[in-house]
Formats: sequence, C-alpha cells, structure tokens
Amino acid sequence: MSRGALATDAARLALRGIRMGWQQRNVLDGVDLEVRAGELVAILGASGAGKSTLLRIAAGLIAPAAGEVHVDGERLEGTRPDVALAFQDPCLLPWLSVERNVAFGLNFRRQPALARGIREARVATALQAVGLAHAAHFAPRQLSGGMAQRTALARALAREPRTLLLDEPFGALDEVTRADMQRLLLQVVRDTQAATLLVTHDIDEALLVSDRVCVLGRGGIALDLAIDVPAPRDAQVQALGALRVRLVSALHESMARTAAPQS
Ligand SMILES: Nc1ncnc2c1ncn2[C@@H]1O[C@H](COP(=O)(O)OP(=O)(O)O)[C@@H](O)[C@H]1O
Ligand SMILES: [Mg+2]
Repeated sequence: MSRGALATDAARLALRGIRMGWQQRNVLDGVDLEVRAGELVAILGASGAGKSTLLRIAAGLIAPAAGEVHVDGERLEGTRPDVALAFQDPCLLPWLSVERNVAFGLNFRRQPALARGIREARVATALQAVGLAHAAHFAPRQLSGGMAQRTALARALAREPRTLLLDEPFGALDEVTRADMQRLLLQVVRDTQAATLLVTHDIDEALLVSDRVCVLGRGGIALDLAIDVPAPRDAQVQALGALRVRLVSALHESMARTAAPQS
C-alpha cells in the first residue's frame, strides 16, 4: 500500500535545515527530511556520510549546529522517552535478565518515574511484540544474536515510541535471522505507527521494508525515492530491480562527490 496518499498529514518527525560538522567540514549541510506516523524511511549513504550523526540529532542526543528537529510539531530540545534509538550492537547489560534489560530503557533522566505496574505492563507488551515473552528471565549470554537484537528492539518499544530510530540494527545478523527481523520490523511499525528511520548499508533491505529510501550524500538528501511496490516484495524482483539501479547510481554519484576536496 502506498502511504503517499497521506501527503496532507502533518509530519510526525521533521528535520529542517540540519547542519553539523567537525573541523571546519560540514558533514550535514542542510538536511530536510519528514517522516509521517507509520511511515518507514530507510537512509542509505557511504560510510562517513553522516547517517549516524543524523540519527543522533533526531534522537536529541546531540544538538545540530543549525536547524531544528520537530516531533509532532514540538521542537526537540534533548532526549525524550518517546523517541527511541537502537544500534547494531544490542548493548545489553550482561548481569541483567532480558526483562530487566528492557525495563532499563524506562529509567529516564529528568522525567517522572513510571509507576511499577505501568513499567511491568510495558515490558511485558514489548517482549510479546518481539516474540520473547518466553525468554523474559533469560540472561543475555543465553540469547542468540537474533534474540539479543529482539531484546534491543523491545527496549525501544517499551518506551512507546512515536519516533523509532534504528542505526544498522540487523547488520551483524545472518541472512535468515535478518529476514525474520525485517518482517518483525514491518509488523512493529504497522502496530505502533511509529515514524521510523532505518539506517542501513543493505540496499535490498531498504527496498524490502521501506515506504521511501533516502540517499544521504554531499551533506544532504541526494535522492528521496518512494517505493510503491506492494507486499510481499520479495516476489517483485523486476519492479525492485529498476529502483535498485536508481539507488546504486545515486550512491555512486554521492560517493564520488563526497570524496572530492571541499571548497
Ligand atoms: N564526535 C565527533 N567528532 C568528530 N568527528 C565526528 C564525530 N562524529 C562523527 N564525526 C565525523 O563525521 C562524519 C560522519 O560520521 P557518521 O555520522 O558516523 O557517518 P556514517 O554513520 O554515515 O558512517 C565522519 O567523518 C566522522 O568522522
Ligand atoms: Mg554510522
């Protein structure tokens, strides 16, 4: 289903004119990007293009040199409980159970503590959503790579995110587990209606799960491509092949220019 029809909906997450750099070099040089509720936007880009920087800015972890982040029209001034970020490394604390690792994501600085009953209910719902209800009491060392990544996703979901930010979350998983996680992600985005940004270096992953794929290059969004291909996408090789060609060429072009000396 195309979500393009919802074009009049206000953006859940809006990045406007984002600039950020180090040592006189602007890594991000005026990035504009909007993501609607329930929309999944993948970000592709060469290594060093600024993908992780952009996600950290969208999470409120670092402030941009210029530009603004808005969540539901409200300017982001720092981290928020309902803006969740997850990485390739699930970052589980080895001495805590799965359940406690998920609950750990609910200790917010500068926010009133959640009542115990609410916290427990959120953890249980999140574990259910990722298919780990049976593993609540497992220790991290008892988990496969896929289960660890599900736990990390549950930790993000327990925050009841309005915005979900994922930085190469499945990059370390084997092919079959990754396919499972991609299906799970689609289901989670549909169920939670979180505005989701997925950074990935895997073009096929981007093509399989996204409503739009953006190529980050030369400090901005070099290509913003709608993927209007019905599910199940793995059966749509031809339609995806044509889109893949456009993405690869945009990536090559952005890499060539990124490598050029800065003016
Ligand atoms: N805290 C920092 N200090 C200095 N340079 C940084 C910092 N964070 C990122 N960079 C630089 O910004 C560029 C983009 O980094 P990053 O956002 O991690 O790229 P990507 O995730 O696309 O690979 C890189 O050149 C990196 O070295
Ligand atoms: Mg990165």
